[in-house]
Amino acid sequence: MELEAARRAVLAAVRGTCAADLPRLLHWMRNTRKKLSLLMSWLDAVYLFSEKRSCTLGICIFGISSQFLIVFSQVLMQYKAIDDFDELVVSNNDVVLKNIAEDLRNRLPIEAMFNSEHQAIQKIHQHPLPMIHVDAFLYDDDFVDSLCEEGKMSRSYCTECGSYKTASLEFISHSFSLMELKFLYQHVLPDLTGKVVVDVGSRLGAVLFAGYLYSSASQLYGVEMNADFCQLQEMMITKYQFIDRIKVINADICTQASLLQKADVVVMNNVFEYFLDRQEQARAWEFIACNVRKRGSLLVTVPSLKESLSKLQTDIQLSQWVEEMELNYDVYMEKDVDREALEQIHLYKIL
Ligand SMILES: C[S@@+](CC[C@H](N)C(=O)[O-])C[C@H]1O[C@@H](n2cnc3c(N)ncnc32)[C@H](O)[C@@H]1O
Repeated sequence: MELEAARRAVLAAVRGTCAADLPRLLHWMRNTRKKLSLLMSWLDAVYLFSEKRSCTLGICIFGISSQFLIVFSQVLMQYKAIDDFDELVVSNNDVVLKNIAEDLRNRLPIEAMFNSEHQAIQKIHQHPLPMIHVDAFLYDDDFVDSLCEEGKMSRSYCTECGSYKTASLEFISHSFSLMELKFLYQHVLPDLTGKVVVDVGSRLGAVLFAGYLYSSASQLYGVEMNADFCQLQEMMITKYQFIDRIKVINADICTQASLLQKADVVVMNNVFEYFLDRQEQARAWEFIACNVRKRGSLLVTVPSLKESLSKLQTDIQLSQWVEEMELNYDVYMEKDVDREALEQIHLYKIL
């Protein structure tokens, strides 16, 4: 088979693989590619060197013919052209995440909350102004627009029944959106090869699934106190075969000291505010500050630690615990990027 035909066949095979099997196929291809590309760079260097020396070095040391090296180098050039493979992997990962979101949408009511979340539901109802929960992982802006057009959702509410006076509804999301997840793994966090990530309050599992697809973290742990959401995450882990690197623990984070102590990255997206009362929030934060102590490890929070702790009574001394790292929120050039949402993401290094 000609190389170009082979290349097309590989890309077609990837595109034709069912969504549930894609993550493992791509992981295997990516890892194989890393090793192969190392070997090729090395052979490339040998070739360039040996070409200058009439191929004698390559022939003497490696016992391979100059003709072989020339052909191999041509293959290498073609192979280098397969940078579209990386692009393909990334866009396929987006497709896998969108597939997971679709699976989850089909298993959840539109507000993506379970009746078992008594405290969270109560808190939403106690909010001074009308507020609706729209999960950003499940519903992007275009999706919300189409639901509004179908009359299944509204962006505004009537302030005086029967009148045309309306006000914008406050939207809250209990998950990161796809854009925020990509920002997190591609621009906020460093290379996670061999690292342990803990998502405190993993809910739908969005942070875990994205971590599986967009990073090389060795283990991704989700700790979630709601059993219904744990069951949902387990279903996705099994269906998409994430079991080798993702583990979900159904527990209160305040029982997981040793896990927090070994974590290299801890993610906390709006974990406590809508789910615990003030006293419980303060206790949970004290526990986090006591146990996320590994020097040099990273803590990602939404909103900032300062904002989360400002409404609570705690003894946490931020300046002795963490150092905030500067983030570049301008990495995305597209017009429809929700910069405000990205700016809520904060990164800290543990001192
Ligand atoms: C806003 S969601 C975060 C979702 C997810 N991490 C993400 O970013 O997409 C917060 C989750 O934390 C969970 N949670 C709140 N307090 C917790 C605690 N003390 N221990 C474990 N989970 C908790 C809630 O049940 C909720 O599902």
